[in-house]
Amino acid sequence: MQVPASEIIDIAPEGRQAQKSTKYDFMVVSNRLPVDRFPSDGGDNAAEGWRRSPGGLVTALAPIMTKTDGAWVGWHGAPDEPLEPFSHSGMDLVPVDLSTDDVELYYEGFSNATLWPLYHDVIAPPEFHRTWWDSYRRVNRRFADAVIQHADHGATVWVQDYQLQLVPSMLRQARPDLRIGFFNHIPFPPPEIFAQLPWRQAIIEGLLGADLVGFQRPSDAANFMRSARRFIGASVKQQQIHVKSPDGRISHIARAQAFPISIAVDQISELAERPDIIERARQIRQDLGNPKTILLGVDRLDYTKGIPHRLKAFEELLKEGRLTVEDATLIQVASPSRERVRQYRLLREEIEGTVGHINGSYDTMQNTAVRYLHHSYPIEEMVALYLAADVMLVTALRDGMNLVAKEYVTARTNNTGALVLSEFTGAADQLKQALLMNPHDIDGLKNTIMRAVHLPPNESRRRMKSMRKQILDHDVDHWSAEFLSALAETVVRDDT
Ligand code: G6P
Repeated sequence: MQVPASEIIDIAPEGRQAQKSTKYDFMVVSNRLPVDRFPSDGGDNAAEGWRRSPGGLVTALAPIMTKTDGAWVGWHGAPDEPLEPFSHSGMDLVPVDLSTDDVELYYEGFSNATLWPLYHDVIAPPEFHRTWWDSYRRVNRRFADAVIQHADHGATVWVQDYQLQLVPSMLRQARPDLRIGFFNHIPFPPPEIFAQLPWRQAIIEGLLGADLVGFQRPSDAANFMRSARRFIGASVKQQQIHVKSPDGRISHIARAQAFPISIAVDQISELAERPDIIERARQIRQDLGNPKTILLGVDRLDYTKGIPHRLKAFEELLKEGRLTVEDATLIQVASPSRERVRQYRLLREEIEGTVGHINGSYDTMQNTAVRYLHHSYPIEEMVALYLAADVMLVTALRDGMNLVAKEYVTARTNNTGALVLSEFTGAADQLKQALLMNPHDIDGLKNTIMRAVHLPPNESRRRMKSMRKQILDHDVDHWSAEFLSALAETVVRDDT
């Protein structure tokens, strides 16, 4: 795959090298490192290097890592390529190697074809395979071992997301001196759905190895506590879960709590005021023929994001003449994601078929209905798109948070524009002044889009101002500081 030059962030690792023997008192652990290995394609374009990893997790955690002397443990995105610890972009990185089999069974299989659909309201049917589970356990053990090797006595370890839910208990067993936090970036399902998982008990026990288990929404934390009670008989009082060791004694108290994640507000605000980015936004509008309204969708190409629902609503609005291609263009950025997983391949075919159908029916020589871009872009281009867009469409069927919604609002420094936001996102809990809707209700979605297109400027300003205030007061530094200070307050019983 050829990677656009703009996505390659560096070619060589930095001079300062993390060592195999270095010990850290703060460690972040996530499936992906903040940078992905970008392998040589063997051809003319033979440069190897590193590019920023996909997803909101990196955006959220990179600022903390550059400010601390900690290390980040994770996979570097290239199978079968063991690497020594190294430093990049001011961060010490400890790579965990995954084989081709691990990628297929642990990452594509158990993480993204079992847990991901199960935790997102079973929008796609989860698959349960014992070989996937075995691999998940083995790979979680490898991540835990990397932490055990590099964590100083009494270190704080912050484990991230659904791919690594067994790591907290593995760490606790081997290293009771550690202070262990876990944060789940995606929803946690209600026990009625979680019940389907054949390994539900092991997952709950894995998470309960942590001193603090963080979730996006209070309802996710409540779902987790209900599952802990139901599936392992844990005693839960308020937000505290009494965790027993195999001999039946209380080993520690784990706390479950919501910490809604956010974005690097300063970075987005600064980019939104840069003259070259403002000029780029003007150019984007001009390239599209200066339509009255630009609607924008920005998502990983994932079935949780409700892209087909959005396209259906837009097509019907064109069909009914409530919108015309002369007046309105939809830009849909769908960044490539998990392309070897069957459901993702099917979704891509469906979306591209629908876009082709809509454009074939409604495009003119001058105007296009949907400008579809199957790429990921650097943040500068994203901010230019946010500035160019009058209406942002976030129609996810289920989403842990949705940072794109927060980025759009932050970029609208002059308080114009409208955010159409699904009720089923974590962001809807905080952005109450968005135009909230149920994406399954296509007529409701169409009406909300039309409302956004015609939103009176004073109403748009009032809504944007209130949403911007919410985000400015709760940026990503606030998120990590809240989590880490709650973690610091937990009691670690170190008998070693
Ligand atoms: C979501 C998940 C992250 C994941 C990201 C990208 O944001 O919460 O854990 O890294 O998607 O997905 P990928 O499978 O490419 O890592």
